[in-house]
Amino acid sequence: MSHIWPIGGGKGGTGKSFLTGNLGILLAKHGYRTLLVDIDFGTANLHTVLGISHPDKSISDFVNKKVGALEETVVSTTIPNLYFISSAMNNLDIANLAHEQKMKLLRSITKLSYDYILLDLGAGTSFNTIDFFMISNSGILVTTSEPTSIENIYRLIRSVYIRKIRQELKVHNFRFLAEEAQRRDSRATENNPDFLLYIMKEIDPERGKILELSLRDFIFKLVLNQLRKEDDPNIGSLICKIIERHLALKMQFIGNISFDDHVHNSICKKMPFLHIYPYTQAASDIRRCYENIVSFKETSSFAHGDID
Ligand SMILES: Nc1ncnc2c1ncn2[C@@H]1O[C@H](COP(=O)(O)OP(=O)(O)OP(=O)(O)O)[C@@H](O)[C@H]1O
Ligand SMILES: [Mg+2]
Repeated sequence: MSHIWPIGGGKGGTGKSFLTGNLGILLAKHGYRTLLVDIDFGTANLHTVLGISHPDKSISDFVNKKVGALEETVVSTTIPNLYFISSAMNNLDIANLAHEQKMKLLRSITKLSYDYILLDLGAGTSFNTIDFFMISNSGILVTTSEPTSIENIYRLIRSVYIRKIRQELKVHNFRFLAEEAQRRDSRATENNPDFLLYIMKEIDPERGKILELSLRDFIFKLVLNQLRKEDDPNIGSLICKIIERHLALKMQFIGNISFDDHVHNSICKKMPFLHIYPYTQAASDIRRCYENIVSFKETSSFAHGDID
């Protein structure tokens, strides 16, 4: 089974595509057959980060049934072992992806056979983006040190967590739990996952324990990108600690990637960053993040059968 790493973030421009492209290059260089999938349908630009001009096939050919299998939209890149599914040139917006189309796409991605599959997600907390983020337990979130970006990461994590509770409990039981939470504390909303879990464990300890274990399986990895000299280098681990405390879930800080003007240059030149600037601080930061992610024991599971 392929290891799937969805790469997301609540805010645009934090560096999701940049990280996806460069982690993909490192995986391929280490000999892993790696597929990068651009899931940012509305504003796809992973191809530019990789230095690929518009591929003639794209994911919308599959969604619009122009081809029968998702595999037919895969293109090879100039980098050995690195493959790509583009979203450029399509007329889809992820928010408009119908439920059936989304489920078909999710299922098809999990059936592809590569060592690693990396998904470059769009910004935001739309249901569709969250469902792609939840395709495995190995999601990576990218934030900058700006409070707006951190706030959005928090919102995204909370939405994923709530969605996971909904999936585990199914619609009916979730509604009951949300109503019970509301009855006990009128200020409590269904946006307070920690409180929901607490109540669940109280009214049905056995089921609550199962839910807790399943939530604990889900580990959020965090990368702090565009770290500037004046920023506190510990901010990423601090964010993880605060979120762990507030939402009672597991976070893993992967590392900082320095802000570096060479990134801008590489994108303007349409050349992969690690290829043209391998000896910069940001390049060595990405390599360290890569080592931290691959050395982390991971599980990848498809958990979408129950999505309402
Ligand atoms: N470490 C870095 N140092 C300097 N600039 C960076 C760094 N990482 C990313 N950038 C800049 O940020 C811009 C946005 O990066 P990228 O496109 O990867 O973000 P994104 O999160 O994928 O955005 P979107 O949500 O719009 O898809 C890039 O054009 C690049 O110039
Ligand atoms: Mg992007």
